[in-house]
Amino acid sequence: MKSNQSIINLLLASTVIYTTTQKNKSKHMLYANPNFRANPPSRSETPTSPMLTPSPNPTNVTSSEMATTINNTMNITPSTNETEMMDSETLPDRSQLLQALYAADSASNMNPTSTGPFTLPPLEYDFDALEPYIDERTLRIHHQKLHKAYVDNLNAALSRHPEFYGATLDQLLIFPDRLPSDIQTQVTNNAGGHYNHSLMWKVMDPSTKSRPTGEFAKAVSTQFGSFENLKRNLKTAGESVFGSGYAYLALNPYGRLIIVTTSNEATPVPLRTIPLLPIDMWEHAYYLKHQDRRSDYIDDYFNVINWERVGARYEAASQVLTPPPQ
Ligand SMILES: [Fe+2]
Repeated sequence: MKSNQSIINLLLASTVIYTTTQKNKSKHMLYANPNFRANPPSRSETPTSPMLTPSPNPTNVTSSEMATTINNTMNITPSTNETEMMDSETLPDRSQLLQALYAADSASNMNPTSTGPFTLPPLEYDFDALEPYIDERTLRIHHQKLHKAYVDNLNAALSRHPEFYGATLDQLLIFPDRLPSDIQTQVTNNAGGHYNHSLMWKVMDPSTKSRPTGEFAKAVSTQFGSFENLKRNLKTAGESVFGSGYAYLALNPYGRLIIVTTSNEATPVPLRTIPLLPIDMWEHAYYLKHQDRRSDYIDDYFNVINWERVGARYEAASQVLTPPPQ
């Protein structure tokens, strides 16, 4: 237990870097940068679908079990700045995480209460609206074909157990172990693809020259030193993605900003974090315009980020998450 505790401590230390392999073989890399403390939780939840009814399945994960799973599967580059103790027993349960995810998704206009069969969400701007940073052809293919394929494949999997059409996308992400085993992988992969892209369209904006404001700006300043440092760290994370995946700005279980990378279409949700801002590092996101110049692609992407909307996600989720023990 002591060694587990020590490892968890590293999750919240400055510039922690770790990799972990989840049960679905998705790799994550995390750069944590602590200090911010969120407001106390304010919501409760009533089960409304099969996804919220805990099953007798032994893979159903509790907070402490999740922490143990993470401990047992990750490789850690030790930090020289361990700043905070983190007790696995205080990790938010998944119902609380769901409420935080709902709050964040509502704040970014994602309609999180909708259930299956799922539909491709329309863009809030034209396909050429992100020019010259994101080209029209890439955006059109990305949305109309690639994102649509994730939606179609998700619905196809759920059609084999239509009672799970009653679940929201967020529920599918948080409670994958409550899905029938024969569709678990297909649903998890495609729900991730649907979520990652749905969020990305919402945090892009053709006319934005925005910067973090309010509580989000304070958190960025406290935890990263400056907005420019945050972008620098995100860019480094994006460039480090091996193969296809994402760099993510996210909110950890204790309400602190972190940067995490995921493989394929995994989201940061299995790490009990709230996704705030994805950077799609699949070649399909940039190759037509930027070819192998990933660095230029990320620079261009930063020119179309709606940081006010990212901040709205941060503030909404922060209201729900549990602060760390005093
Ligand atoms: Fe993509």
